[in-house]
Amino acid sequence: MKNILITPGKNNVGAYIENIDLKKLDRNQISTIKATLNNFGVIFVKKQNLDSLSYQNFAKLIGELVIYPRLKGLENFPHINVIERKPDDKNLTFGSSWLHQDTSYLGDERPRYTMLMGVDIPKGQGNTIFSSGFNAYEKLPNEIKDKIKNATGIFSSSGPIAVTRVEREKEMGVKSAKNLEAEHSIVKTVNEKKTLYVSPGHLIKINNVNEAERDYLKDFLIEHVNKEEFLFSYEWSKGDICLWDNISVLHKASEIKNCKRIMHRITIK
Ligand SMILES: [Fe+2]
Repeated sequence: MKNILITPGKNNVGAYIENIDLKKLDRNQISTIKATLNNFGVIFVKKQNLDSLSYQNFAKLIGELVIYPRLKGLENFPHINVIERKPDDKNLTFGSSWLHQDTSYLGDERPRYTMLMGVDIPKGQGNTIFSSGFNAYEKLPNEIKDKIKNATGIFSSSGPIAVTRVEREKEMGVKSAKNLEAEHSIVKTVNEKKTLYVSPGHLIKINNVNEAERDYLKDFLIEHVNKEEFLFSYEWSKGDICLWDNISVLHKASEIKNCKRIMHRITIK
């Protein structure tokens, strides 16, 4: 058997894991996967084409599976949500336009990881864009690091990204009971490295900073994590798997036009 190969993505965002079959992993391989996820924030495993049971089994190795009420689940696998884009869909792609960290509007019990598998992938579009919170924090000017060291953010389900959720809920005939909001520290530590937790799609306010600089710092951080030097736009192939840590990595979908795409998504605690 060939050795596992780990290769960082563009701009050192995430890492590809090669020479591995997610259907049959030994203990060493599982710990390598977990360490790589911890270290890079997102892992890319090409062309796995897992059946639903194998996909779910792999997810269970990472953590506890969570039911995500805002998307349809597969009939026999309610933890596997289907994200489907139809050729004539005119609305915004789910999770597009704004970088975000999934469910930042929930408290400390919120799910940590999100995984996608490409099931039906259009050629040449529908990339997922990742931004590294590790790299973004590291490159902050010291003066800003100092200003935000105790900062917290208020994250809301009605933040700027909510427009795609509202459209999705309309399609499914469900309505969120209420607006959800949570407060979290903006600087977090994962694997002994500091990372930025700013989820621009949900962030509505920054607390614990100089009152006069609240808005300036919020705008500064949002612009910062969007800088080209921290981004990697991942181009999907059928059967690929992306698994990311919503603390250390931000993501967004890119726009898709006039084509079909199906992704299977699992949320993990
Ligand atoms: Fe998302």
